[in-house]
Amino acid sequence: MRQATLHQLKVFEAVARHRSFTKAAEEMMITQPTVSTQVKQLTQNLGLPLFEQIGKQLYLTEAGEGLLATCQNIFEQLDNLEMQIAALKGTKQGRLRLGVVSTAKYFVPRLLGYFCQQYPGIDIALQVTNHATLIQRMQDNQDDLYILSQPPEDIALSSQPFLDNPLVVVARRDHPLVGEKNIPIKSLAGEPFIMREQGSGTRLAIQNLFDRYKVAVKVRLELGSNEAIKQGIAGGLGLSVLSKHTLIAEQLMGELAILDVQHFPIHLRWYVTHLEGKQLSIIAETFLQFLLENSSNIPTLETIALQNKYLITNSHEDLVKLS
Ligand code: PGA
Repeated sequence: MRQATLHQLKVFEAVARHRSFTKAAEEMMITQPTVSTQVKQLTQNLGLPLFEQIGKQLYLTEAGEGLLATCQNIFEQLDNLEMQIAALKGTKQGRLRLGVVSTAKYFVPRLLGYFCQQYPGIDIALQVTNHATLIQRMQDNQDDLYILSQPPEDIALSSQPFLDNPLVVVARRDHPLVGEKNIPIKSLAGEPFIMREQGSGTRLAIQNLFDRYKVAVKVRLELGSNEAIKQGIAGGLGLSVLSKHTLIAEQLMGELAILDVQHFPIHLRWYVTHLEGKQLSIIAETFLQFLLENSSNIPTLETIALQNKYLITNSHEDLVKLS
């Protein structure tokens, strides 16, 4: 292995990540025969095959899996070294790899905007996925930090809460339950319901609550996007439960309303988390501190409404225009 070059390892890592020689060649802007030659030389050095081709599908062998994990480790260490050297030169430079659940995209990009203004030398790789895919990314150690609201208990993580994430029942404004107070949760049984896809953290939280109170809703539609769900509600397809972060004041003035249902909001919290024992890069550490220090400035539905000179009444059914 000592004869392997860093370039060969980079080529191998790209092939392994894409499970494709063609895509690796495209990404690295080299020809496919060059990719094949590099992988072949690496295989000869190792004395064991790294890939096996079954039909059209490329699989990693056990040796390949081992080499991939080692490569990821080496590249991460090299990135960290670059950041350390930049820090020694008095600048913060490098890459922040951040994985967030889809619902967090309503506030994370804006926060990153402020962060990048302060640290212009930092590049961000932001992955937005649902809860289940984010957990997979954690297991594969793909990012520095993760933002989600229900950190898994079976992965050793270091997690810090930084913001509330209330989930509320949303209906179209002309729904008969709009304006009613303290609606029993059982009233939702039988209502046509729009649910997030399997693997969504929002869905997990709703399902837990409904299971606890033995409420069975009629799921009319499953959608993989909070925005699509809001359109579905406005289109009269049913009720749904969404994080308040997904709602903007204008929608509550117009087509949508929050229902005052017992046991809602579901009180979740946003956590920033990383694998326990992972040596955070200087950049990741800087962002973590920035997030914790600035979390109280993240706009909520209420503060955005106020900025636009609206007051949301306690029951959230109405917005009152302030003069
Ligand atoms: P989701 O996760 O975007 O997958 O629904 C949200 C959450 O973790 O609360």
